[in-house]
Amino acid sequence: MRPTVSSSLLLALVLATGCRQGGLYPDGEINNEAERPEYGDADDVAPYVGDNELVLEAQAEFPTALDFHQKVIWRTCTPFDGVCHNSKEYPDLRTPAGFIETFGAPCNLQFGEFQSVYDGCERPGDRIVWYGGGFGENELEIGFVEYIPGESNGFEDTPADDAPGLHIHLASPVQNERPEGYATAEFSRKFVTDGNVEELVYASLSTRWWVLGDGSHIFGEVPNYRIETVQNILAVGIVEGDANHNGTFGATVYDKPASLLDPNNPEGSYLIARLRGEMHGEEVPGSRMPLANKPFSIPEMLALFCLVEGFSPEADATGLTLPIDYNNCSYAENPEDLNLLGAGVTWEGRIRKILEFNCGGCHSGTEPAADLNLLEGNVYERLLETSAQNPELNLIEPGDELSSYLYLKLIGDDTIVGQPMPFNPITGEGTLTQAEIDDVLTWIINGAVENE
Ligand code: HEC
Repeated sequence: MRPTVSSSLLLALVLATGCRQGGLYPDGEINNEAERPEYGDADDVAPYVGDNELVLEAQAEFPTALDFHQKVIWRTCTPFDGVCHNSKEYPDLRTPAGFIETFGAPCNLQFGEFQSVYDGCERPGDRIVWYGGGFGENELEIGFVEYIPGESNGFEDTPADDAPGLHIHLASPVQNERPEGYATAEFSRKFVTDGNVEELVYASLSTRWWVLGDGSHIFGEVPNYRIETVQNILAVGIVEGDANHNGTFGATVYDKPASLLDPNNPEGSYLIARLRGEMHGEEVPGSRMPLANKPFSIPEMLALFCLVEGFSPEADATGLTLPIDYNNCSYAENPEDLNLLGAGVTWEGRIRKILEFNCGGCHSGTEPAADLNLLEGNVYERLLETSAQNPELNLIEPGDELSSYLYLKLIGDDTIVGQPMPFNPITGEGTLTQAEIDDVLTWIINGAVENE
């Protein structure tokens, strides 16, 4: 057995480390060094002098990170107290300092539904090794751990997959001679201190273990006198390599876990991925941000991208007042690429299906509701024409959601005639999800285009 340090000392150490924000993990290891930022340097930021209107607009509106925070982030925070990132899985973005802290901070580690964890946010899992009981003493990565409370003692047959006790899911099967045995499991984690990688055992558990399924699911009996030990181990917070239980170990698949905002790397920043709904070409779980708010315009996206691309990993809160470097920003060449439509929010890409599915039942056939057919014929052309209920407005007015009567019907605006849509005669309520309404809004604001 490897030497262990006194458990309370380790508990404190692990807790302190677990709470830190701001470490980057270059080699799939957790950096234990304090990365206190240093002052930035405004010397070499020359203004953009090209002729791209979008860049000029971004530069005029958002000369510094502080402007961006005040005008954009704060806007997405204000209307609903609680929506804005002061709870659960969200970072606190309300203050400029909180915003700056999201640079380099690990993503999606806050508590919430485990399914909502994005693979790209998963960190290298803690390690476990068993001594005794015919186990092969191989160190294996922990995928995820579940404790199911209840009578958990002296099983005669192989316990069920959901038997009361401690279930540990591993990255690869354990090598063992027997299907069960009494053994001591040691939990460990890698730390980087002063550039040295150290592996620390932070907990151990001696009990009877069973090997289930293909060997990557290990079950530990938790008799009453062991419950406290198990609770203590769980309280430390085991780092799970497959936190969302989907079989993909994000830290193995991607070079390093994503940060909320990754200095110099907008495409690898989780907050940006949540705005776009995708990262590494894959869908990111969770509805798109900002919820219940106007999606970002191109100049806003550009300001964020240039801010992140030019952000020095050493900058601290003073970096907020430095100019955003639009001149050296690679995204300033083609700001149109940052259009959120890039993620497919076009009529053909997404909106047509949303309307067909949710509205087509009534708005179709020879006598469609309100004489509006949303299923057959040239629906796209029809949407650019006037509303029957309010002939002063078109159903869709590209670029202006508040002049788009169909959108006003979706949000149940005060000015509409009749019911908010989609009208459900049974419940009286709509069925569109917030994400779908957000997509319709994004689509309208970005010009309600038919195809990409
Ligand atoms: C259960 C049937 C039903 C469903 C489902 C439904 N509608 Fe309607 N819709 C109606 C009826 C009935 C009217 C006319 C009465 C009213 O407005 O309340 C109407 C009116 C409208 C109008 C006004 C048309 C105009 O020219 O002014 C719009 C726009 C509209 N619906 C859009 C939608 C959209 C978009 C959806 C899906 C997201 C939808 N409806 C789903 C029954 C439905």
